[in-house]
Amino acid sequence: MEIRGKAAVITGAGSGIGQAVAVRLAREGASVVVVDINETGGAETVKQITEAGGAATFVRADVTVEAEARRMLDAALQKYGRLDILHNNAGIGVGAPGYPIADPARWHLVIEIDLQAVILGTGLAAPIMEKRGGGVIINTASMAGLYPHRQDAVYGAAKAGVVNFTHSLGFWEQDKKIRVNCVCPGIVDTPMVRRGLEQAQAHGMRSWMPAKIIQPEEIADAVHMLVRDDSLYGCSLEVRPTGRKIVDPRPAPGTRR
Ligand SMILES: NC(=O)c1ccc[n+]([C@@H]2O[C@H](COP(=O)([O-])OP(=O)(O)OC[C@H]3O[C@@H](n4cnc5c(N)ncnc54)[C@H](O)[C@@H]3O)[C@@H](O)[C@H]2O)c1
Repeated sequence: MEIRGKAAVITGAGSGIGQAVAVRLAREGASVVVVDINETGGAETVKQITEAGGAATFVRADVTVEAEARRMLDAALQKYGRLDILHNNAGIGVGAPGYPIADPARWHLVIEIDLQAVILGTGLAAPIMEKRGGGVIINTASMAGLYPHRQDAVYGAAKAGVVNFTHSLGFWEQDKKIRVNCVCPGIVDTPMVRRGLEQAQAHGMRSWMPAKIIQPEEIADAVHMLVRDDSLYGCSLEVRPTGRKIVDPRPAPGTRR
C-alpha cells in the first residue's frame, strides 16, 4: 500500500513502539490518529509529528472498551475522511512477581489488552475498511508468542493468540481486500521493558536483558514494510537484533487447509 495520503490509527502510540510507528508513518505521509490512555505520551507523539510537518491527532481511548475503540476509528473518518491502516499495538506484561503469584486481575488484564482488544479493534475496523475497498491491519504480537516465554507465560499465551488470530485471517486478503499481518519483536528498548527490568530486579528475579537490544525505530521499519508489501497477508514478521524472518503459514498455492 502506498502510505502517502492514507489515514492510520495506532494504539499505544503514546510510548515506545507505537510512538515510533506513528512518527514513521506520519513521515511517510500518513495522517495518524494517536491512541493511548496516557494523555501526556499521546500529546508528545502528536507534538513530534506536527513539529516535523506531519498530520496527527490524539484520541484518549482504552482499547478494551468497545465504545472507546469505536471512537478511535470514527476519529480517523471524521478528521481525515478515511481509515486505511490500523495498528493494534497497545500492550502490557504481567510483570513481577509474575504468574501464578500475581493477582489474577493482572493476568486477566493482560489477556484483555494484549489479545481481546486486538480481536475487538480488528472486528470493528474490518467493515469500515471493507466498505471503502480494503485496508491493512498490523497487530503487535511478540517473539514471546512464537516461542516459549518463561519470564511471562500469560503474556506469551496472549501473544500466541495474536499470532494465530493473524494467521487465521489471511483469507481476508481475498474476501475483503484487508491484509492482516503481525510483527513479532524480540526485546525492544521501550519504557515497558525498562519498567519490567526494574520490577524484576526489585523482586530478585533473573535479569533477561540481551546483550544487543532492538530500537523502537527498527520495529517501525518492520511495520512500514508490512504496510507497504501487498504480497504479505496472514504472516508474522519476527524482528530479532540479528535481522528479520517472515513466518508464512499460508498453504502452498493450489492446496487447501
Ligand atoms: N518492548 C518490547 O520488548 C516488546 C517486545 C515484543 C512485543 N512488544 C509489544 O509491543 C507493544 C508496545 O509495547 P512497548 O514496549 O512500546 O510498551 P510501552 O509501555 O512503551 O507502550 C505501550 C503503550 O500502550 C498504552 N496502553 C496500555 N494499555 C492501554 C489500553 N488499555 N488502551 C490504550 N492504550 C494502552 C500505554 O499507555 C503505553 O503508552 C505491546 O503490545 C508489547 O507487548 C514489546
